[in-house]
Amino acid sequence: MTQLPGLLDTEAIRKDFPVLDRVVHDGKKLVYLDNAATSQKPRQVLDALSEYYERYNANVHRGVHVLAEEATALYEGARDKVAAFVNAPSRDEVIFTKNASESLNLVANMLGWADEPYRVDHETEIVITEMEHHSNIVPWQLLAQRTGAKLKWFGLTDDGRLDLSNIDEIITEKTKIVSFVLVSNILGTVNPVETIIRRAQEVGALVCIDASQAAPHMPLDVQALQADFVAFTGHKMCGPTGIGVLWGRQELLEDLPPFLGGGEMIETVSMHSSTYAPAPHKFEAGTPPIAQAVGLGAAIDYLQSIGMDKILAHEHALTEYAVRRLAEVPDLRIIGPTTAEDRGAAISFTLGDIHPHDVGQVLDEQGIAVRVGHHCARPVCLRYGIPATTRASFYLYSSPAEIDALVDGLEHVRNFFG
Ligand code: ALA
Repeated sequence: MTQLPGLLDTEAIRKDFPVLDRVVHDGKKLVYLDNAATSQKPRQVLDALSEYYERYNANVHRGVHVLAEEATALYEGARDKVAAFVNAPSRDEVIFTKNASESLNLVANMLGWADEPYRVDHETEIVITEMEHHSNIVPWQLLAQRTGAKLKWFGLTDDGRLDLSNIDEIITEKTKIVSFVLVSNILGTVNPVETIIRRAQEVGALVCIDASQAAPHMPLDVQALQADFVAFTGHKMCGPTGIGVLWGRQELLEDLPPFLGGGEMIETVSMHSSTYAPAPHKFEAGTPPIAQAVGLGAAIDYLQSIGMDKILAHEHALTEYAVRRLAEVPDLRIIGPTTAEDRGAAISFTLGDIHPHDVGQVLDEQGIAVRVGHHCARPVCLRYGIPATTRASFYLYSSPAEIDALVDGLEHVRNFFG
């Protein structure tokens, strides 16, 4: 068995993930390398979900009965766990949403309906990058269309990094908001947050970070990051689907208007007007994803019991090994950084002229699960002149043996297609 410095004890960890024992396609052991799409869930999270429904299920913030109080304590307890996980100065800065897309749409809509000094209008600019997931492009396009604001973006270098050579022309005195991804879901690139934030702060622009591919894999400290908003999702970090997070700076959350209206986000309602509850409730209209928040809390407990530093070191060792092994595959071209430096554990590639959908299908027949397509980051494929990529992505339970299986599988794909 390949041993690499920094690896976690994956044999022990994998015992917590029942699905990893699956056998697919006539006896092929599942090799799950689609973690950037969604992670698998440990028994601890599955148990927390069923325990919630078996013992505590009730609506939150609404009842005086025992179950309502217990459910509320569990839901708000999950908020405490998220706040500690990202080192938020206050638990009131943690808003639960249904996913990272909703978190990013929430920021765009807060700004779209805001008064000065936050208002986005036809005299202002919004800055994103060419490596964003569609969830950090489309909300800003919608906002730009609605307000007349100009949408600008950083382009990419040939090696899959942000081209910041014209940073002073892209981020200007007119910029209201800079929204960018911390770790790219398609390229794997880890972006230079400090450089971008420094420039944004010089011109007084707000900064929103899409941390969907960062929060599951590395320590995340919103105070150290110095951004104004940070969005991520639960299902990529061992939590259930249906739960996302938006962290925002408290004074902004106090000043900015709500987006969705409904129950529990109000202070008073008359037939003429309403006043709103303080954040975070102002931004959580309707019955929230209660069980999902509890599941996310359990996922955070699980990840912290292993240690985010250790998870980062494990994935870094795997990524180093993977880029080295993938370099041995003839005709394979990594789309994105080709070393493990400043990159995460999602590796996209093309294999000669073989269409990624064919690559994915032949790998699947061998039990190897990868994602193929444009990964909801189509501008990246356009930039590199490719229709799609195959993407392998690792997590805390991934092992060097699975990377070996991928490399063998790709050899099989090449033979299959002659
Ligand atoms: N955003 C997820 C991915 O990159 C779904 O696959």
